[in-house]
Amino acid sequence: MKKISSLFAVLAVATGMTAQTHTFDVNTSKVGGAIPSTMYGIFFEDINYAADGGLYGELVINRSFEFPNHFAGWDISGKVTLKDDGPFNKNPHYVRLAPSGHTDKYTMIENRGFFGMGVKGGAEYRFSVWARVPDGGTSKIWIDLVDNATMEDDQKLGNVGVEVSGKEWKKYTAIIKPTKTFDKAHLRVWGDSKVTTDVEHVSLFPVDTYKGHENGMRKDLAESLEQLKPGIFRFPGGCIVEGTDLATRYQWKNSVGPVENRPLNENRWHYTFTHRYFPDYYQSYGLGFFEFFQLSEEIGAEPLPVLSVGLSCQFQNDITRGKKEDEVHVPIDQLQPYIDDVIDLIEFANGDPAKNQWAKLRADMGHPEPFNLKYVGIGNEQWDYKDNPVFTKRLKIFLDAVRKAHPEIKYIGTTGPDSEGEKFDMLQPKMEELKVDLYDEHFYRNEEWFLKSGNRYDNYKRGKSAPKVFAGEYACHGRGKKWNHFNAALMEAAFMTDLERNADVVEMATYAPLFAHVEGWQWRPDAIWYDNLNKFNSCSYYVQQLYSYNKGTNMLTLTMNGKPVAGNADQDGLFASAVFDKNTNEVIVKVVNTGDKAQPVTLNLKGMKGDHAAQLITFHSDDLNAENTIENPTKIVPKTTSISVTAPSQSITVPARTFYIYKIKK
Ligand code: AHR
Repeated sequence: MKKISSLFAVLAVATGMTAQTHTFDVNTSKVGGAIPSTMYGIFFEDINYAADGGLYGELVINRSFEFPNHFAGWDISGKVTLKDDGPFNKNPHYVRLAPSGHTDKYTMIENRGFFGMGVKGGAEYRFSVWARVPDGGTSKIWIDLVDNATMEDDQKLGNVGVEVSGKEWKKYTAIIKPTKTFDKAHLRVWGDSKVTTDVEHVSLFPVDTYKGHENGMRKDLAESLEQLKPGIFRFPGGCIVEGTDLATRYQWKNSVGPVENRPLNENRWHYTFTHRYFPDYYQSYGLGFFEFFQLSEEIGAEPLPVLSVGLSCQFQNDITRGKKEDEVHVPIDQLQPYIDDVIDLIEFANGDPAKNQWAKLRADMGHPEPFNLKYVGIGNEQWDYKDNPVFTKRLKIFLDAVRKAHPEIKYIGTTGPDSEGEKFDMLQPKMEELKVDLYDEHFYRNEEWFLKSGNRYDNYKRGKSAPKVFAGEYACHGRGKKWNHFNAALMEAAFMTDLERNADVVEMATYAPLFAHVEGWQWRPDAIWYDNLNKFNSCSYYVQQLYSYNKGTNMLTLTMNGKPVAGNADQDGLFASAVFDKNTNEVIVKVVNTGDKAQPVTLNLKGMKGDHAAQLITFHSDDLNAENTIENPTKIVPKTTSISVTAPSQSITVPARTFYIYKIKK
């Protein structure tokens, strides 16, 4: 007998199994509260070239010549002059292409795009330009897509001519079909050799954008969003909402109406980190609030715009470091235009075009039906000081006014940049006092934090007076490994069992940030990466997708020895939660083993009997530091197998460092 047990011990060590069995009691006969449809969503911010140069399909950088260096992104030759009395009052600059005066000298402007332009052989690209012939008559301009580093005789990948006529500004379009795929193309616009031509808003889009919109989104990236089946879509940021200073905050009213007349805004991320510095990072606002609402609708998510509360970024304008409050933030008695921005936005989204100018603009832009906006965030990542509630005193003024105008909307406050500590502790009770509907929590934290936070929401206040939680920005930033890798995603999967178990408290959660260009990132990890032609979804993306696809409709209790399975001292690194899906009649159990040993578990499915068809989804990597890449985009992806589960009691073994999802037909 002794021999057998020591043999078992040797075997257990050899197979990496511990002797302790864990019994998960899942009460499948008592269906709990509903999982909010908004539960797993996405957070978009124009960081890492997420909008211009990313999701927004425009391939031309500085298309309106409005960057402070008006020729940024452009090489010019011949007689090119910058003018400033163009047809669009908010973007007054344009370029005059005059004949050089010499038969062998050419006037031409060449745009380098965002890290080059990615074009596909045989695909169609829509060139457009506003142009005129200032002296009257007709001119012909030529548009080339080029590979200017090629060894071949001709740099052209495709070209097209456009005839411009008359002294009036008109929009001209032409289709270019490159012969080859190339990720670093440039766009050349040649002036007529005999006639002067003025050009403005020089643009190039793939014809094949997401849902085919002319001012559309890069299809593969928008599809990654759609494939997350997000419940909520938060935009436009992040710190972008605040700007580095008030002048550079995101102003939604500038982001709607004709794209040609949306003024440029600085992107605060171009200089935020001097070790990842991008001096030509601006916001064209081509991806503006109309497009955000439209995209929300098309990917099936509730829109969640966040607007300024009249505070500039507090990290960079901290009044404790010598600046006076009214120098950097909006004085209390001057908040009205900011409050109007919220009220007018609700009208823009939901109002009657016959009664409201902003609603009329929405209709004029092609969407007479309301966007059905239900949530608005006020302020991004703000906080109070002990002796000066800079944030909450403003928020109160906002809430009083916007609630009066639109009581039907749910308003979202914030507990600032920290998951706990002084700012958080000060703000959480204030959110309740102010009766916000939800508050936005942010946490970019390391592995230990995630491992310790499996019970975070178990003891949050419940009941009518308690606001719901929006975990609006979170990601595991590995200690010394602040980039995407499997283990970070595993930590997030573990933590998300807590969100799921507490779906009566947490109404929505969004991983952050969403997008990053491999050549233009400022912040990582991020959910989706891309270059000019390719993309890959990170391991963190797949964790989000697994939760979203398997969120179920109702909570189920899952306990071990009467307690939630949340990585506690006696739980061997296990995290778990369970839901029921009324639509598919499935019990869905999520188990994350964060430890380095396989763990035996008994699934005790109370209320079920006999054999049940099931699916087991496994997300695992032997190498914790491994990650998907542009070269190998599907290196680590979830795998599904069909199995059978015996109820009420099924023994399973959860391998080390693995996320398992059991989907059991009831
Ligand atoms: O997601 C990046 C930044 O992190 C956001 O802009 C800000 O809200 C947070 O500090």
